[in-house]
Amino acid sequence: MGYVLEVRNITKRFGGLVAVNDVSMGVQAGEVVGLLGDNGAGKSTLIKVISGVYKADAGKILFMDKEVQIDSPMDALAMGIETIYQDLALAENLNTPANIFLGREKMKKALGFLNVLDHAYMQKESSKILEKLDILIPSLRNRIRALSGGQRQAVAISRSIYWDAKFLIMDEPTAALGVAEQKKVISTINLLKSHGIGIIVISHQMHDIFQVADRMIIMRRGEKVAELVTKNTNADEVVSLIVGAETVTK
Ligand SMILES: Nc1ncnc2c1ncn2[C@@H]1O[C@H](COP(=O)(O)OP(=O)(O)O)[C@@H](O)[C@H]1O
Ligand SMILES: [Mg+2]
Repeated sequence: MGYVLEVRNITKRFGGLVAVNDVSMGVQAGEVVGLLGDNGAGKSTLIKVISGVYKADAGKILFMDKEVQIDSPMDALAMGIETIYQDLALAENLNTPANIFLGREKMKKALGFLNVLDHAYMQKESSKILEKLDILIPSLRNRIRALSGGQRQAVAISRSIYWDAKFLIMDEPTAALGVAEQKKVISTINLLKSHGIGIIVISHQMHDIFQVADRMIIMRRGEKVAELVTKNTNADEVVSLIVGAETVTK
């Protein structure tokens, strides 16, 4: 089977610094790939190349086996590549349906000529997608500000899936959450996987990565240093690859 998303020989420099150096990787439909590495390894830069935030200096991106040009975040979104950043990019003062439809609001005609927001439609559609993803939000009318970290995460994921994401990138999805909510995010990721979505997860939480990732890619100083099948490795091996085998002699 081919990859939903593949990058080949991606290099990204910031002035003299090579943040990502000749990295190739691919993710299949329904597969979760963990992207690991110490701070500064190049993880965020690599995913920002995929999501259209940065333009690579070299290399190519293939989506559904076709080479694509991703020059902006809008290009990535139009293809179905959605990124959930740590800050989630939700509007705090709006409720769940307004966030799911943010920037893509559904309008209707009132009195035959006025264009107004179709709240009923957005509410109904939001309920449907949340139900499909087995996500419980106490009241859709509550502002995002009133929701827990896990619930916000769930709203961000629901928005991506509602808008037909084929590929999801998650940067530290469980970092700021309590244990119960981390478990919920893990089960949501597994559900997305069963829907055939390809997923890259960046995480420092070894335990979470081992629960969701089919494979792991390890980066160090901008380079891909290992590609592992989760069931054939263990946390000790992964940690030693992350920190590097080099030791200072003497
Ligand atoms: N916008 C930028 N300008 C200059 N240097 C950057 C920028 N973004 C990242 N870097 C540098 O690129 C390297 C990789 O960073 P990053 O991709 O954020 O790593 P990670 O996400 O793995 O912690 C680091 O040395 C970082 O300082
Ligand atoms: Mg980062």
